[in-house]
Amino acid sequence: MTQKRISLTRYLVEQQRTNGLIPANLRLLLEVVARACKRISIAVNHGALGEVLGSAESENVQGEVQKKLDIIANEVLIEANEWGGHLAAMASEEMDNIYAVPNRYPQGEYLLLFDPLDGSSNIDVNVSIGTIFSVLKKPEGGADVSVQDFLQTGSRQVAAGYCIYGPQTTLVLTVGNGVAMFTLDREQGSWVLTSENVQIPVDTKEFAVNMSNMRHWAPPVKRYVDECLQGTEGPRGKDFNMRWIASMVADVHRILTRGGIFMYPWDKREPDKPGKLRLMYEANPMGWIVEQAGGAATNGHQRILDIAPEKLHQRVSVILGSKNEVERVTSYHQA
Ligand code: AHG
Ligand code: MN
Ligand code: MN
Repeated sequence: MTQKRISLTRYLVEQQRTNGLIPANLRLLLEVVARACKRISIAVNHGALGEVLGSAESENVQGEVQKKLDIIANEVLIEANEWGGHLAAMASEEMDNIYAVPNRYPQGEYLLLFDPLDGSSNIDVNVSIGTIFSVLKKPEGGADVSVQDFLQTGSRQVAAGYCIYGPQTTLVLTVGNGVAMFTLDREQGSWVLTSENVQIPVDTKEFAVNMSNMRHWAPPVKRYVDECLQGTEGPRGKDFNMRWIASMVADVHRILTRGGIFMYPWDKREPDKPGKLRLMYEANPMGWIVEQAGGAATNGHQRILDIAPEKLHQRVSVILGSKNEVERVTSYHQA
């Protein structure tokens, strides 16, 4: 007997119809983002054959050198999304300012934020990278869309997801009803539901952090990692394993699959910066996905999703993953 395959379209229609969770316009938006991710996936796969590797010789607003694929992925997402009538504006890691939908197209009620290509340092070395996105509703009133409209807490997201370009291309999505994963069937060109109700184990023996920064961390993070490293002889009484892919998408995907804790904490090299990762299009969408899978996400002091943003490209310290471990690190910050 052939197994019944559930497509992304069918999953979204069911969320709309049965669960009443998503209006038709949000469904369209998510389908368009998923289609854009397919195009990005093709560009990523071409690699050296498609002249997409290497640096673009430009910098983004955060002073980071842009890779060619950062720019390509950004353009693909904009082109795919600007004309459909579902969006009022977009914001991206790779654009200084928000991108309002041009006047020639109808304006919709949603705002889309994205990190077009996450893990840029891994592009040229053929290691998993991804696209992260977050969807908000434009606040009522006010004809023109402004940056202010975007500055909402993560708890107001109406959809969030990421696509990982790895050995398989997988789209991971939440609309507030758990986390679902869709694998790209390249022959058919369609997204097929391959896991539903993803759950992160509450305990773990695996941590992900860039250990080369250890001497710069604050005492609570140092304490946590120190205790993990002491293994069976330390207070935790068990050995821990470590992984660091340097693509948040890939580290979070592993955590959704088998548990673990991910940290990119504040460090004292640049004390005025709360962290490296960005709140609006990295920490918020990933934080919500992790919570929807039974995990937790904090900045050490507060739930990520409760942080009131002040700037579009605001940075944040991130601790997320298996619930009991995240709670432990967070409690060390209170001690
Ligand atoms: P981006 O490529 O979008 O700038 O994000 C990279 C981020 C994140 O994906 C990853 O966890 C982290 O940077 C890796 O940083 P280090 O190189 O400092 O380990
Ligand atoms: Mn990123
Ligand atoms: Mn990026």
